[in-house]
Amino acid sequence: MEMKTRVGQNLRHFLTLKDYSKKEIENLIELATKIKKSRRMYRNLLQGKSIALLFEKPSTRTRLSFETGIYQLGGNCIYLDAESLQLKRGETMEDTARVFSRYLDGVVIRTFEQERVELLARNSTIPVINGLTDLYHPCQALSDLFTLYELGLLRKDIKFTYVGDCNNVLNSLLIGFSKLGLDISVGCPEKYRPIKEVLDYVLELSKKTGSNIKIYSDPVEAVRDADVVYTDVWISMGEKRMEEKISELRKFQVNDWLLSYARENVKVMHCLPAHREEEITSDVLDSEKSIVWQQAENRLHAQKALFVYLYTL
Ligand code: CP
Ligand code: NVA
Repeated sequence: MEMKTRVGQNLRHFLTLKDYSKKEIENLIELATKIKKSRRMYRNLLQGKSIALLFEKPSTRTRLSFETGIYQLGGNCIYLDAESLQLKRGETMEDTARVFSRYLDGVVIRTFEQERVELLARNSTIPVINGLTDLYHPCQALSDLFTLYELGLLRKDIKFTYVGDCNNVLNSLLIGFSKLGLDISVGCPEKYRPIKEVLDYVLELSKKTGSNIKIYSDPVEAVRDADVVYTDVWISMGEKRMEEKISELRKFQVNDWLLSYARENVKVMHCLPAHREEEITSDVLDSEKSIVWQQAENRLHAQKALFVYLYTL
C-alpha cells in the first residue's frame, strides 16, 4: 500500500537522486525553467503548510533558497538549529520524526550521515528533503543540472569535468549524469577516488543509460577540451583538515593554467562556498568563465520545483 501523508497526498521523499528516474529529473528541470520565468507561479502551493529546516551544519545558499522559496510558495518556514532542539539532549531521531509529522508538512534536513536522513524519513509521514549529508547533496546536483540545461550544456556531446575532492557534491552529480545517460569525467588523485559504493552504483547504471564515466589522475587529461569544469572545496563540513590530502589535491586547483587545456569558451562551476586560492583561484572565480552566481540563484528555482513536485503528487 502506498503510504499517505497526514494531509492525504502520496508520500514521497527526496533523499538521493538514486530514487528519481530520468523522466522525473527531466520533469523537475522543466518545472524549474517555468518557475524561473514566472516567479509567482504556484504562489499558493504551500498555503497553510509549515516546512521545517533542521540543520546540523552551517548553510547560506540552501537555507536561504529554501526559506525564500517556501515564502514565495505561500508557506511558513521554521528554521531549527539542531543545537536548540531536544535532539541535542538525546531525544531520538525516530521520536523527533513522529513529533515533526504531527505539526509539520515537510522537513529539510542537513546533517552528517546519510543514515540519519533515512531514519528521519522512515519515521515520518511528511516529505523529507536531503539538504546535504556527508554522502550526497541531491538538491545541489538537481539545481546544477538545471543550470546546465538553461545554458544549453546538458547534452551528450558536452565534456563535463569535475576536478578535486570526490565528495558529496560529486557523488550526487555522478548519479544525476548517469541517470540522464550523459558523460562525466572526474580528475582526482589516485588516492582520493570516488567511494566504491557510489562508483559501483553509477558504473552499473551507466551500462543501461549509456553514460560514459571517466576517472583521470592527471588533471590536464581530465580538463582537456572540457566545455564545463566543476570544482568544490577540498575539505567538506565536518571533515578534519589533512595537509597530506591538501597537498595531493594541489595540482587539481582550477586556475588559468589548468583551464588553458579546456575549450576556449569553457564554463566554470562551483557549488560554493569557495575557498579562494585553494580549489579555485579568484582570477577564475571572478572571470567571465565563471557561472557560479547563476548556479547559486538557481538553487531557489530548483527547490521551488521540488516542492511543486512533492506537493502535487
Ligand atoms: N552550495 C550549498 O549548499 O551552499 P550552502 O552550504 O551555503 O547551503
Ligand atoms: N562539499 C561541501 C559542499 C558544501 C555546499 C561540504 O559538504 O562542505
